[in-house]
Amino acid sequence: MTGGIAAYKAIEVVRTLAYLGAEVRVIMTPSAQKFVGTQTFTAVSGNPVATEMFSGGPEVPHVELARGASLAVVAPATANTLAKLATGAADDLLTATLLMTRCPLVLAPAMHREMWEHEATAANVATLRERGAVIVGPESGPLLSGDHGAGRLVEPSELIEAALEALGRAQDLSGMRVIVTAGGTQEPIDPVRFIGNRSSGLMGFAVASAAAARGAKVTLVVGATATAPPLGIDVLEAKTAEDMLASVRQLAPDADVIVKAAAVADFRPAHPHEAKLKKASGPPELELVPTTDILEELGKAAGVRKPGSILVGFAAEIEADPKKLGELAVAKRAAKGADLVVANDVGSTDSGFEVRTNRAVIASADGVQDAGLVSKGALADALLNEVVRLLQRSQR
Ligand code: CTP
Repeated sequence: MTGGIAAYKAIEVVRTLAYLGAEVRVIMTPSAQKFVGTQTFTAVSGNPVATEMFSGGPEVPHVELARGASLAVVAPATANTLAKLATGAADDLLTATLLMTRCPLVLAPAMHREMWEHEATAANVATLRERGAVIVGPESGPLLSGDHGAGRLVEPSELIEAALEALGRAQDLSGMRVIVTAGGTQEPIDPVRFIGNRSSGLMGFAVASAAAARGAKVTLVVGATATAPPLGIDVLEAKTAEDMLASVRQLAPDADVIVKAAAVADFRPAHPHEAKLKKASGPPELELVPTTDILEELGKAAGVRKPGSILVGFAAEIEADPKKLGELAVAKRAAKGADLVVANDVGSTDSGFEVRTNRAVIASADGVQDAGLVSKGALADALLNEVVRLLQRSQR
């Protein structure tokens, strides 16, 4: 980061990249620190902010930072820093690191209109572009100087898209509308109690983040979860099976892909009590009635989905053997009318609820693929690879 009033927008960029799984190291120039504090960036990146060229010890910060990087993003990039990068100056930690590194470079300029339009800046930007740097923005609009024109830092979402593209992430879901349901539903017994389950929402969040990183427009329909949903993704709350059904019915006609990662209650209390049940009244009798099976409705009812869309269900099973897990996935796929079913083991300590890994298989019309024991992020990508394959086939 270099010095500019738009430095505050970099907070969201760092947070989102960290959420998408990147290990983010922030370097701030002295002028950047005049606009925002290092503490904020330490908190959002989870790493100390680097500001000093000389560590006072044997470490050489610019070498360590440069050699470890897969991607460098300068946001905001001032006219001064662009000039230094164009000429190869290296008089602070940021420019020394960028001269040293060979990773892809994304630059997001932000400055006054006159500085952006100056032929010196134009020549520097042309040089940097020629060397392969990706220049994102600036945008036109109202500027801090009071006038209007080119010079505003692009929005964080645009910068993240450019960063992911520079990293070589395929934008193979670009323009696709994806719905992901995540978390568990809570079916009320009375105003304070409910029937729920242990779903953390992490698997659905991983699918939503991975789809967004591949260019999709994602809407998350979220029940009860252990953590907040990923930043920058549209969220609809749906605490009960009925709410979730209503949200999904509303969104489904426009969706290209629907991933039902939520753990929806199969039964709910038929008559939730309006008043809080009292212990003194003794154990309550609960009559349960089935909820609508949302996945099955989407899979089998006519006219609820966009033609050619892809439907993905999940099956939570106490089964660590991939072969048996595969048989259960095939059966569930047929029962629900889904294109793909991911069956995961929820009976082991390293798979299923509340942990970051899953042991899973993916069933499609072409057979069963064993994904093995992988992170939820990797499983999300394996699943989306299958989705892309089916979308390509359905569009042919
Ligand atoms: N599902 C749904 N609506 C329901 C219940 C389940 O959409 N009312 C979806 C879930 O989101 C998930 C899949 O169906 O994608 C899970 O199927 P389900 O039949 O509930 O299977 P499990 O709970 O895994 O197991 P079981 O077969 O034992 O019920």
